Amino acid sequence: MTIFRGTFLDTPDNPFTGGGLRVDADAALLVRDGVIVARGPFSDVRRAHPAEDIVDLTGGVVLPGFVDTHVHFPQIRAVGGLGLPLLEWLDRYALPEEARMADTGYAAGVSAEFVRGLAAAGTTSALVFGAHYADAVDTLFAAASQVGLRITSGLVVSDRLLRKDLLTTPERAYTESLALAERWHGVGRNRYAVTPRFSLSCTDDLLAVCRRVLDEVPGSLFTSHVNENEAEIAVVGELFGGSDYVSTYDRHRLIDHRAVLAHNVHPIDVELKMLALGGAAVAHCPTSNAALGSGLFPLARHVQYGVRVALGSDVGAGTGFSLLKEGLQAYFVQRLLGEHGCPLSAAHLLYLATSAGAEALGLHEVGDLSVGKRFDAQLLRPADGSPLAVSVEHADDAEEALARIFTLGTPADVHAVWINGDLLHPERP
Ligand code: GUN
Ligand code: ZN
Repeated sequence: MTIFRGTFLDTPDNPFTGGGLRVDADAALLVRDGVIVARGPFSDVRRAHPAEDIVDLTGGVVLPGFVDTHVHFPQIRAVGGLGLPLLEWLDRYALPEEARMADTGYAAGVSAEFVRGLAAAGTTSALVFGAHYADAVDTLFAAASQVGLRITSGLVVSDRLLRKDLLTTPERAYTESLALAERWHGVGRNRYAVTPRFSLSCTDDLLAVCRRVLDEVPGSLFTSHVNENEAEIAVVGELFGGSDYVSTYDRHRLIDHRAVLAHNVHPIDVELKMLALGGAAVAHCPTSNAALGSGLFPLARHVQYGVRVALGSDVGAGTGFSLLKEGLQAYFVQRLLGEHGCPLSAAHLLYLATSAGAEALGLHEVGDLSVGKRFDAQLLRPADGSPLAVSVEHADDAEEALARIFTLGTPADVHAVWINGDLLHPERP
């Protein structure tokens, strides 16, 4: 067993429903086989366990590992394609890079960069949009397995209105998805996600196949995009006979507690009702929404309807892996919405980046640092004299310090990251 000593901040109680930030200064977590088995003041835990090794994390702040609910692994080399709205951005920046995943060697290189980038940003669990090529998705699961990240991902499928080299057929999608799920679902920390790109690029036949795969792979998730951009929404309406966007999935019974839909910037009320009723979650990706000019996310309406929301980086439309930056951008957006915005405290931001994500992905063993949870955690320790270090030093209390961490923090401030009690960043030589 190991005693981790430090100052721990987490959000076991939802701040959107009356909870707040939990702060334990000079505390200790006792970890056995990756699981937190005791928690309390350091002196108490030490007295009860005098012989155990101590890992000293004082001089920084320990947060739960981040949970990124929407990120595209084949797009990391396309980050920074600025100036275009969604459909034009896909054609100009994202899809040409995704087509390169046909080369499995190239995809393996990208996968290795991707898992390292996630870990270095303090992200320990992620729902990852895969590639259109099964061999490329294999390279992602293999890279994630090597590092030990908790990854849920799958084959991205589309059978219309994308460049031809990214298209499949319903039959091939079914066979390849099941084969991938068989190889990786439930193996180590990997899980499978059924992943139609968006209903714009998927026929009803393909969406029906997606439901079949979900039924045949118990515990798999469903993920896609919804209501991101007004031009996109208009095309979807035309393709599906005037239907609202959520219904294009719901008519195939895809809107349930296993569904995580990215964006939902422009929902109508009936769609929010459908999402809430089904228990689906929304991945809010604020830097992506700003970079593509998609719009301002109506968080207050999601909260009002009881739709679960968590954060996603949406790399490569999003501007990087850090959920600190996504949290800050989420805060900005709600400020800009004025009276229609949802005021966010630092506790809300931490919740959206950790517990809410774990909940959205059905990862009940992570998300906070309570007894019984896995020790997935990150130590934020900025360099001495850096603007963040100075700012945190002058904070009046822990919540103020956390607000400063979200405001100024970057992956450079993530000093160390653990999954299941094992150090995975920085990598040992
Ligand atoms: N909608 C369909 N594909 C994509 C994608 O790759 N990124 C974003 N942001 N939206 C999408
Ligand atoms: Zn996306």
